[in-house]
Amino acid sequence: MAGKILIIGACGQIGTELTLKLRDIYGNDQVVASDIREGSEELMSSGPFEAADATDEARIEALIDQYNISEVYLMAAMLSATAEKAPMKAWNLNMDSLFHILNFTKDKKIKKVFWPSSIAVFGPTTPKNDTPQTTIMEPSTVYGISKQTGERWCEYFHDKYGVDVRSLRYPGIISYKTLPGGGTTDYAIEIFHEALKNKAYTSFLAENTGLPMMYMDDAIKATINIMEAPSEKIKVRSSYNLSALSFTPKVLSEAIQKEIPEFKISYEPDFRQKIADSWPSSIDDSEARKDWQWKHDFDMQSLVKEMLAGVSEQLKTAK
Ligand SMILES: NC(=O)c1ccc[n+]([C@@H]2O[C@H](COP(=O)([O-])OP(=O)(O)OC[C@H]3O[C@@H](n4cnc5c(N)ncnc54)[C@H](O)[C@@H]3O)[C@@H](O)[C@H]2O)c1
Repeated sequence: MAGKILIIGACGQIGTELTLKLRDIYGNDQVVASDIREGSEELMSSGPFEAADATDEARIEALIDQYNISEVYLMAAMLSATAEKAPMKAWNLNMDSLFHILNFTKDKKIKKVFWPSSIAVFGPTTPKNDTPQTTIMEPSTVYGISKQTGERWCEYFHDKYGVDVRSLRYPGIISYKTLPGGGTTDYAIEIFHEALKNKAYTSFLAENTGLPMMYMDDAIKATINIMEAPSEKIKVRSSYNLSALSFTPKVLSEAIQKEIPEFKISYEPDFRQKIADSWPSSIDDSEARKDWQWKHDFDMQSLVKEMLAGVSEQLKTAK
């Protein structure tokens, strides 16, 4: 690789595992982690870390120069549930950080960018099942509005200035290494912690709320695959639909009960129910599968087994 990789928002749920995987592939010194807070011990000790605010254009530019950065993964954002509590702050973070990176790429300071979008770009008027790549998009959350707008700008910068930006509409990402950052699908992570600690969980989404979900390893694989694919294979420059599984809290609880028979679930939907109700239940990602051969590995029961093993290991070491 000609230059190094910079991950902005590297200490979050996805950024942590993405940074560690990229360090495995390209070498520890090749991958610079940055965030406004420190990350896990493994992340901080395995390679370079720089404190940086994604909205501080001069600071990000200085890092690009200092480390000879050629690729940026922009993972910093305010997520759906948190953003509803601070809409303008979310808008400023989610949009300003993207504009800085798109402009640096346009000015040829960097060569390639990954920027994640989300199923939150869809809204209550979108077809709910097998949501197509191109369809009605009228998001009703500030997070969704920022992601949809971001997608339009990514496509615009690609078409107008040749910017090599690549993007995925992540579904709810399930993992145990780093806690989630305030999204509407976080119940599907909390449930594993509570199942192991207390054998019971109260879900903040109703039992039959179906949402698209994915195990972290698949999300990291998709991210690296799309970034490594030859440019001509990336036909969609707004953001690709991406899918693996789709399930409800009830179905997830039944899969957990296969491993922990005494586990009990109850339901107390809160403000996040309305957000979940506005999103698709399942996603058609055939364009990603066709264009750059996307394929997921984890099904429901393998995800449940990995999560229970990972979280119980964490609980043991925390004792
Ligand atoms: N986790 C999911 O299920 C999911 C689903 C769809 C899309 N996404 C998208 O993927 C990306 C990463 O999500 P995540 O789940 O890892 O989020 P997260 O909240 O866990 O992590 C975001 C990181 O960004 C950092 N950050 C916040 N403000 C910053 C700033 N001003 N400057 C620099 N860093 C800042 C935070 O400290 C945090 O470490 C986001 O763009 C998110 O919208 C995530």
